[in-house]
Amino acid sequence: MGARRARGTRMLPADPPPDADEALAPLDRDAEAAPPAGALPEVDFWSVLYGRRSIRRFDERPVPRALVDRVLHAGTWAPSSCNYQMWDVVAVDDPAINADLAALSTQMGNAPVNLVVSYGREFSEEGWANVQSASAMVQNMSLAAEALGLGTFWITQMGDREKVRERVGLPHDRLVIAVLALGYPKSRPKSGPKRRPLTQVTHYNQYAGEPVPSSPRPEDWRPELLTLYQRARVLNGLRHNKPRAWETRALLAALATLVPEPPADEGAAPRRWLDVLPCTGILTERLARERKGWAFDVVERSPEVAAFVAERTRPKGAGFAWPTPAPGFASPAAGAYQRASCLFRLEDLAPADRGALLADVATWLAPGGELLLGYVSKRSFHETTEALRRRRGGPRGVEYVLSPDPNIGPFEALEPGEVDALLARAGFVVEGRLGLQAVPQPEELEFRTRNFSPRARAVARFAARALGLLERLPGVQARRGRFQFVLARRGTPPDSPAA
Ligand SMILES: Cc1cc2nc3c(=O)[nH]c(=O)nc-3n(C[C@H](O)[C@H](O)[C@H](O)COP(=O)(O)O)c2cc1C
Repeated sequence: MGARRARGTRMLPADPPPDADEALAPLDRDAEAAPPAGALPEVDFWSVLYGRRSIRRFDERPVPRALVDRVLHAGTWAPSSCNYQMWDVVAVDDPAINADLAALSTQMGNAPVNLVVSYGREFSEEGWANVQSASAMVQNMSLAAEALGLGTFWITQMGDREKVRERVGLPHDRLVIAVLALGYPKSRPKSGPKRRPLTQVTHYNQYAGEPVPSSPRPEDWRPELLTLYQRARVLNGLRHNKPRAWETRALLAALATLVPEPPADEGAAPRRWLDVLPCTGILTERLARERKGWAFDVVERSPEVAAFVAERTRPKGAGFAWPTPAPGFASPAAGAYQRASCLFRLEDLAPADRGALLADVATWLAPGGELLLGYVSKRSFHETTEALRRRRGGPRGVEYVLSPDPNIGPFEALEPGEVDALLARAGFVVEGRLGLQAVPQPEELEFRTRNFSPRARAVARFAARALGLLERLPGVQARRGRFQFVLARRGTPPDSPAA
């Protein structure tokens, strides 16, 4: 954000010089009253409120304690349950302690200051008043930081919060609720993630909506809600998602094995490839990069997601609708494609809709056209890791299923036999198969345990090496691979009149 418009006479630059604190009247750390009028820079409340963004990259400058104090003081003026103010905050600006915190979670390795916010563990616990009060404090501090030209981001992924507490010397009686990273922003995002509109979120007097389910089971989702949810997630931030190395590796192996590129036929018209329900388009982008002789289109649930993904292909493809066409958002033309791909997307459909999707894919393909289908097998470690995660008492909602990246939403791994039956019913003839990754891959373990303690990570690394040997035994990946790829050719559906 540039210079902020002030209501009064003063303007506050987005990045004040290092001595900006000298412009402020010194804060009496023992004062019980709010700072007197004029002691703080006047800034426009609404531009602070709407201009605040989570800042995750900071420059090298240390934050003067006079500024940290201002932020902390603003925090103490948040409401708290019964005004008990049972919060205690440790502002960590010692690089050695911050390095120890970063070892507990890399999230705490970004900013020069980490504000560790705690509240009475059992005090005011009723109605989570402790969590609510501490959260109000965190929000006050992030707005104050914004007003002072600083940046923050709110951290709940702090690893073991008891270790965080111990490292900063807080007694057991204090529960660490959150950490607020604080520093001078390296850069400020030009625009923030969008917000859901009021019509979806708010109601007068009586709730009149339908909540997006938090269940990860596909049958708990109405297709319309899935469309809404994926649209919100893709457009509100997931566009920045990076491909995961182990998933990309699997995809490249599947392309090389099942659909190798024949030598380029100069001058031939590009063949047409339809990517089915690509969601974020991470894999579509890769497909288009790897198979340049093809023109890619996509079929998605909403025009916005379709347009977003089509933008990721070069040349830019067209976006089509499934399951419901709308004005200006048609279904793909029948028989128009030589190849289709559907990668890890049958899994978010209710069982009854999976066959319907495959039957539609068959109609979009030209006679003899082929489908590259990728799915997560139920006969793999996926089910075990999911069961373990659920037992650990961690989050269980739809956000947390360890599914491959292109999937956003509910997720259910599939039985290979079920997939074969669905393909046959839709008139496909299977021509090739590839099973990959029968055990979690080293990069995946690194990623999934990034917020664990160094010891837990070392154990995970050892386990990964041992499991890696198992995976090399013949036939293991084909039978037990988490990722199963199938190349299927469009034939005639057995129940069609021509069969
Ligand atoms: C309770 C809570 C926990 C959060 N935890 C994290 C976190 O652990 N790591 C992180 O990078 N961001 C975290 N965030 C920041 C959100 O991702 C961010 O606020 C959201 O994407 C909206 O972006 P904005 O803050 O720029 O408006 C958290 C935010 C809240 C309110």
